[in-house]
Amino acid sequence: RRLRSVLSLDDFEASARRHLPRPIFGYVSGASETNASLRDNRCAFAAFGFVPRVLIDVSGRSPEIELFGRRYAAPFGIAPMGIAALSAYRGDLVLAQAAADANIPMIMSGSSLIPLEDVAKANPDAWFQAYLPGEPDRILALVERVERAGFGTLVLTVDTAVLANRENNVRTGFSTPLRPSLRLAWDGLIRPHWTLGTFLRTLAKHGMPHFENSYATRGAPILARNVMRDFGAKDHLNWSHFALIRERWTGRLVVKGIMAAEDARIARDHGADGIVVSNHGGRQLDGTVSPLRVLPGIVDAVGATTPVMMDGGIRRGSDVLKAMALGAAFVFVGRPFVYAAAVGGRDGVAHAIEILASEIKRNMGLAGLTSLRDAGPSLLHRTGDA
Ligand code: FNR
Repeated sequence: RRLRSVLSLDDFEASARRHLPRPIFGYVSGASETNASLRDNRCAFAAFGFVPRVLIDVSGRSPEIELFGRRYAAPFGIAPMGIAALSAYRGDLVLAQAAADANIPMIMSGSSLIPLEDVAKANPDAWFQAYLPGEPDRILALVERVERAGFGTLVLTVDTAVLANRENNVRTGFSTPLRPSLRLAWDGLIRPHWTLGTFLRTLAKHGMPHFENSYATRGAPILARNVMRDFGAKDHLNWSHFALIRERWTGRLVVKGIMAAEDARIARDHGADGIVVSNHGGRQLDGTVSPLRVLPGIVDAVGATTPVMMDGGIRRGSDVLKAMALGAAFVFVGRPFVYAAAVGGRDGVAHAIEILASEIKRNMGLAGLTSLRDAGPSLLHRTGDA
């Protein structure tokens, strides 16, 4: 019933704002410092308009697409998002199952409160995203665990050399470790659906949430004072650590968080199988340009040999078409899927996937596209510096 009034991905955000305690909604929706990158991620799409083609038989159009030799129902997947189980009951499992049902990829975050083995069981095609621990023996142990669980694709997120300045988390009272406060208690009290359906249900059935996947073993509980020891700055990580993983990991290796064409070349030369152009949803270096703006240059640099994917600010089927016209092989969407899980669980995520997939299919018809591979630069007109 709650989903009937949700007509677009942005509607999920409005609904999640009412539904989630303020610190948790702020953690998901927020970015860093002045939110310049967050804004640019949306603005960049407005810098392009469509030039539709007409009187083309589009009756056989399909948003299906091939990636890494596998056919997906749509050209988008679910981006990795940490501690999703704080927004929705068993959030990572909800996302994994809805993605499996819809035949789209889901990337599970390494900063998850659900063991990676459980997510692999729920969706054997899920990808695993890792923040690397800093020491070679721990890196190798983590890679082994991911392999043993059966993941075929490992995504290394490389844009987190140091922790970002997320002022909004301080302002809303969100922190890791999560600190119980009167404000949080009040917030929970006025949002009983979240308090009963997510928070207390988790505590009753599974106990205190832990970071489950930071190392080869279970990490710290979310309330522990030393919880960030697993996520602190890894500012010494460099391409030699990447090379170590490439040597050891026999599955597909994707690098997420590339913005410079030169880094894309280095990643390819180090054996990356794919690249996700991303500024982490505007959550790392504030002022980083939108991935959409650097996408064409990166496609020029490595696109012929390496699938170039992107994420950041995609909220409409038309955004997906613009990214693909600029050369993206595939895209990922973050926040809206966590909002959907928070508001409607597995049904909510299914609804979000359905909304975006049908927008793509409808817009393909309106633009004169029968296949997404036909989307090229001639579909777009630069409208200015929006
Ligand atoms: C993220 N992101 C992220 N990325 C990653 O590689 N590992 C992670 O654990 C997380 N965690 C995370 C939590 C939350 C709440 C958000 C919103 C984002 C970044 C994410 O994968 C993706 O790059 C952006 O969210 C994409 O932008 P949109 O679609 O949210 O605008």
